[in-house]
Amino acid sequence: MYLNRLRIERLRCLQNVDLVPDPALNLLIGGNGAGKTSVLEALHCLSNGRSFRSGGQENLIARGAESFTVFGELTAADGLGHSLGFERQRSGWRGRLDGNDVLTLGEFARSLSVICFEPQSHELISGAGEGRRRLLDLALFHVEPSYLQSWRRFQRALKQRNAALRDRAYARNAEVWELPLAESGETLSAMRSDWCLALEPLIQRSLAQLLPELGEAALRWRRGWDAEQPLQQALAESRERDRELGYTVRGPQRGDLRIEFSEGGGRYELSRGQQKLAALALLLASASAMQGKGGVSPIIALDDLPSELDQEKQAACLRWCTELNAQLWVTGTQMPVGLSEWPRSHAQFHVEQGRVTALL
Ligand SMILES: Nc1ncnc2c1ncn2[C@@H]1O[C@H](COP(=O)(O)OP(=O)(O)O)[C@@H](O)[C@H]1O
Ligand SMILES: [Mg+2]
Repeated sequence: MYLNRLRIERLRCLQNVDLVPDPALNLLIGGNGAGKTSVLEALHCLSNGRSFRSGGQENLIARGAESFTVFGELTAADGLGHSLGFERQRSGWRGRLDGNDVLTLGEFARSLSVICFEPQSHELISGAGEGRRRLLDLALFHVEPSYLQSWRRFQRALKQRNAALRDRAYARNAEVWELPLAESGETLSAMRSDWCLALEPLIQRSLAQLLPELGEAALRWRRGWDAEQPLQQALAESRERDRELGYTVRGPQRGDLRIEFSEGGGRYELSRGQQKLAALALLLASASAMQGKGGVSPIIALDDLPSELDQEKQAACLRWCTELNAQLWVTGTQMPVGLSEWPRSHAQFHVEQGRVTALL
């Protein structure tokens, strides 16, 4: 899967960018604040409907503008072309896929998958479970055709039950939503659990390359409620407590995965640098698991690679990406040294003050 065209309008400092990317590697080189990360944010919006940077999504709209748009042409695994368009206004978003309206953001993830390693990626390890759940969900939207439907059913039932829990006049309705919530939640959770089983040997291999000093790694999946209990029973049991709190405490919305090391203790004992490497290992393993399941690697973006990783780790990461045959997008203030032995084709772009120019 690779993009063969990317157009961006009015996103941060990028007023009007039109790129013809290389199928293998795209290098974006330029000074600080030139707009390199913004290009990757645009790419990320096309697959996930949002940037990877935290903060309100409306901050991506260029100052003085009402909206930004990103348009991409994609060559999929089967060789067929697809067009994707995403527009964000202050009040909402609109999406188009092959000329049809997109109704939920998960539909983008189903056709295009972008995995991004960037300066805040350590939060994938040290931060709350939401980031790890999102990584898992996005992968499953892409590789499991039925996952999006179960996920939507689950989110709807959860929202309705939470609303009923908070509304005294309709408090009994909470019970009504427990069956659809439990059915979709069990389905969702079984697919997540299978995914983690497939992920574990891959992350052990990526960690052995990136963080060998921490010993053997294990991936622990917690589904969000007691291991032995059916979800419907867990919901019924916690109903009174949920009413007091005003939200549903047990269920897949609390599911999480953890990486544990034989030598390194828990995630709180890892240094910032080790958290980054563990996050990269998780991202690369996810890309490999997606390739294993769907036969094609997601697009991989590596933001500010030269300042995030030393030469040896850059080379290890790039070897992994070469093996995956992924389309790569790499940014830096200078050429990453790890790329000196890049075996495939590449395109290079110079980024300056929001303008992106192809170097011939
Ligand atoms: N909403 C916005 N409108 C206009 N410019 C913005 C907006 N948000 C950020 N910027 C500017 O865009 C640039 C963003 O650059 P960025 O992509 O982070 O650069 P790089 O990754 O090359 O260092 C910065 O100069 C920043 O001041
Ligand atoms: Mg940047």
